[in-house]
Formats: sequence, structure tokens, C-alpha cells
Amino acid sequence: MPGAIYAEGLVKTFGDVRALDGVDLDVPEGTVLGLLGPNGAGKTTAVRVLTTLLQPDSGKAVVAGIDVLKHPNEVRRAIGLSGQFAAVDEYLTGRENLQMVGQLYQMRSKAAKARAGELLDRFNLADAADRTAKTYSGGMRRRLDLAAALVVRPPVMFMDEPTTGLDPRNRQQLWEVIQELVAGGTTLLLTTQYLEEADHLADDICVVDHGKVIARGTSDQLKARTGGERVEVVVHERDRMPEARAVLAGFGKGEATVEEHTRKLTVPVAGGAKLLAEVIRELDGRGIEIDDIGLRRPTLDDVFISLTGHAAALTGEEPGEGQAGAKGHGRKAHKAAKETAQ
Ligand SMILES: Nc1ncnc2c1ncn2[C@@H]1O[C@H](COP(=O)(O)OP(=O)(O)OP(=O)(O)O)[C@@H](O)[C@H]1O
Ligand SMILES: [Mg+2]
Repeated sequence: MPGAIYAEGLVKTFGDVRALDGVDLDVPEGTVLGLLGPNGAGKTTAVRVLTTLLQPDSGKAVVAGIDVLKHPNEVRRAIGLSGQFAAVDEYLTGRENLQMVGQLYQMRSKAAKARAGELLDRFNLADAADRTAKTYSGGMRRRLDLAAALVVRPPVMFMDEPTTGLDPRNRQQLWEVIQELVAGGTTLLLTTQYLEEADHLADDICVVDHGKVIARGTSDQLKARTGGERVEVVVHERDRMPEARAVLAGFGKGEATVEEHTRKLTVPVAGGAKLLAEVIRELDGRGIEIDDIGLRRPTLDDVFISLTGHAAALTGEEPGEGQAGAKGHGRKAHKAAKETAQ
């Protein structure tokens, strides 16, 4: 039986761009699917098709057991959506925005008021509840938009980059809200640029790139694909890096990567803590001083790089930024662009 969110062969083109190029999804009821991919991968397009906002060129989509193309109005009643860019009425207060959603869904006025109050508390908006939304900061708008998507406790939820622009405390709180929702039986599809977020919240992850699902599985399964643990060493003297690299290559089961500016060497290994001790002895024996050494499991960033050849959140629109050293810059530029767009 198909899951609460099901898609088969979704294709959507915009001129020459194949935003969706044959996407299949199947999200079992009560679980979270994390849709992960760089800018322009097709995440928002997938969300828009599944939430009836966009007609695909071909393919099939069923949400909450209802055919999205045949019965869009029924689907709309069964889902909640928080889009990539907060959609709130600027001229209403936070409280009025939430109450209006309740009324649209034909809640009784008393119930809508109570629910609005509860959500305003939950999303730390109680103090600003009676100010118009146009006076809200970007993060406040985003939280109001998420609260609006939760007014009617829909069985199936879509959240497009729900935590982009939230500070760490609010992000943590949103994660808790999401976990409670899912514990209560809600099925959720969320898109994210934060690999840690997918790792934390999603039962299953689909990695998309250029409109195609390029990998799917649990976070552990995806991590296993990149070849297990890594030893990371920060060498004290830059001059000793080539020698340290050769030492690591002897212990590793793949190429050692070098991050010149941080003097960090990373190599995939099999052998865990015992091997780490051997690496330390060998480096020490050669008099190579180290500032830091550790064993770590691959991050989803490693997974992304190994699957696509570039880090998440980098795009072909930023040529030359695919180097490890430019990664942080690419992220920041992306974030800045998002904030401007809000
Ligand atoms: N309305 C549109 N008209 C033309 N092209 C579009 C339209 N919507 C999306 N696209 C293109 O489709 C591709 C996928 O876009 P989409 O918004 O789905 O990406 P995304 O994965 O959500 O990216 P981001 O992480 O930046 O939000 C991009 O190349 C984008 O430029
Ligand atoms: Mg998007």
C-alpha cells in the first residue's frame, strides 16, 4: 500500500530546465522524509506539485490517499504547508493571522482563538502576538508561518526549509515541535539545506540533484555508503603536512583530503580507536607535532560530496566555489541571498 505521501515519475519542466526529472517518493504514514539537495535541485518544485500548487507535466501523486491531480481541493483540506518563503498577512497581527487560518478551516471561533494562543506561546510569539506581522523580523515571520501551518493539526505536513533563518534556540524548539507532531501520527515531508537537521529529524532521506533522486535511505545507510569512519588530524606545522599525509595514507582505505588553510588532513579508515592510537604513535615517532586528532563518523556533508562531487548548498551558478576552502563562503552567500528574498 502506498504511503501517506506517494509520487511516481514526477516530471516538471520550465523551458529547458527539468526541475523534476522522474521523481518517485513513498513516505509511510507517521514518518518523516527529509528531502535534501543543493539550490535548484527541485525540492520546492516537488513540494509545490505535492501540495497542488503546481501541475506536473507527467507522473502521479497521491497524498493522504487522495489523487493530487484529480482532487486537489480535497488534498488541500488534508494537508498543512509551510512554504520556503513565509506567507503571512502583513496587515494582520500574529494572533489574527492564526485565527484567520482557523476560520478558513471552519473551526469554531473559540477553538480558533484557543489554538492561536497555544501556538503563539509555543513559537515564542506571545509578546508580539498583537503587533502587525509587518513589524516582525524574518525569523518571527517564519515562526508565524509555521504556526499557521499547524493550526488545524493536518495528518500530512509539508515544510520547505522550515528552519532557514531561525536562530539556534528557535531551531531547537522547532525540532521539538516537529518531533511531537510526528509522535502524534503526522506524516511530514521536509526539505532542508541543513544536513544535521535531516540527520536529526528524518526517518528516511532522499538526496535530490538536478531533479532526480540520486540516493535514498536512512542517515546511517547513506553514511555507510561513504566508507565508514574518518581520522582527522590537524598538523601543527604546515611544512610537515606532506609527510603526515603519507603516514595517513598508509593507514587509510582511501585518499587523504587536505585542507591547507586549517592544516587539516582527513582519511577514511577501518579500525576505530585502536587504529587512532597507532596513527598517533607513528606521527609522534616521526616528530610530527599535532594540534588535534580525532575519529569521526562521516557527516551527511561527506555523503553529499561523495554522491554529487560537490558540497550541499553549492550550485553550478557559483563556478569555482566547489573547492573545500570556498565552502563556508558559498553557504554564507546562499544564506544572505535567502534573507534578502524574505
Ligand atoms: N516558476 C519557475 N520558472 C522557471 N524556472 C523555475 C521555476 N521554479 C523553479 N524553477 C527552476 O527549477 C529548478 C528547481 O527549482 P526549485 O525551486 O525546485 O529548487 P530547490 O531545490 O527548492 O532550491 P533551493 O534550495 O534554492 O530552494 C531551478 O533550476 C529553478 O530555477
Ligand atoms: Mg527551494
